[in-house]
Amino acid sequence: MKRMPTLVDGLDEILNGGLFEGGVYIFEGPPGVGKTTLANQIAYTLARREIRTLYVTMLAESHARMLQHMEQQIFFDQQEVSARVFYVSGYREFEQGGLKAVVSLLRGELMRYRASLLVIDGLVVDRLESMANDSVRQFVHELQSLVSAMSCTCLVLTSGHGNALSAEQTMVDGIFAFEDHGFHWRAERRMHVRKFRGSQIIRGQHTFCISTQGLQFFPRLESLPLVDANARLGKAKISTGLHALGVSEFLCKRVGLQLTEMRSPN
Ligand SMILES: Nc1ncnc2c1ncn2[C@@H]1O[C@H](COP(=O)(O)OP(=O)(O)O)[C@@H](O)[C@H]1O
Ligand SMILES: [Mg+2]
Repeated sequence: MKRMPTLVDGLDEILNGGLFEGGVYIFEGPPGVGKTTLANQIAYTLARREIRTLYVTMLAESHARMLQHMEQQIFFDQQEVSARVFYVSGYREFEQGGLKAVVSLLRGELMRYRASLLVIDGLVVDRLESMANDSVRQFVHELQSLVSAMSCTCLVLTSGHGNALSAEQTMVDGIFAFEDHGFHWRAERRMHVRKFRGSQIIRGQHTFCISTQGLQFFPRLESLPLVDANARLGKAKISTGLHALGVSEFLCKRVGLQLTEMRSPN
């Protein structure tokens, strides 16, 4: 199976090379955790490799509003809007014809734009919960047939946490759970790949941060196979200022440490 790299810092390492072409992946997590930013980041970074994205929003919010938020991100490129990144609203179809109407919209628009990445943003779990389980299952099934026939990778962004899509989650190729974990006064963003079909991944929680450079993931170094980790550590060393503790530049980057110039006591 062919991979589609996300080109997001740290994420392809977690996934052992990227997503699979033709797969359906769920990004789930509370509002504000970074799902929309991540999906746009992947779309614009792939656009530089001439890969086209169809970005379907299910929310009433206009695309202009979302793009305003993306403008501050360095990955954003206005010239790619409607050139390689195409925004389409599925809100009216969903309201008027339910998930069936959304599938026919997707079919038509995917053919029209010949996209290799499809993002469905804003599937509201509360709405899905009130629907018959069968119609949600059928939606996921049709989506899967559609994207695999077109070798298109699909990201479904939802605010749920494994409830409304639970039955369907067993059918998708991957589930990425995002959370904003608070402890005491601090908060930390984390991501956990709950399911990933067809490959080994780095399991467990990985922290990530959001800046104007988009999302950056910090895979848990200790879970990498030892040979791999050693090979990636490289030779560059930075002094920690502590005598017997040598930390390589790579390790510092991986754990998100920023060591400024520190001199060893000698
Ligand atoms: N330049 C930035 N620096 C730090 N955080 C940012 C920056 N830009 C956006 N964010 C944060 O990233 C998050 C973006 O959320 P968004 O992608 O819309 O999440 P979701 O789609 O999961 O609701 C917000 O919480 C926002 O505060
Ligand atoms: Mg969002």
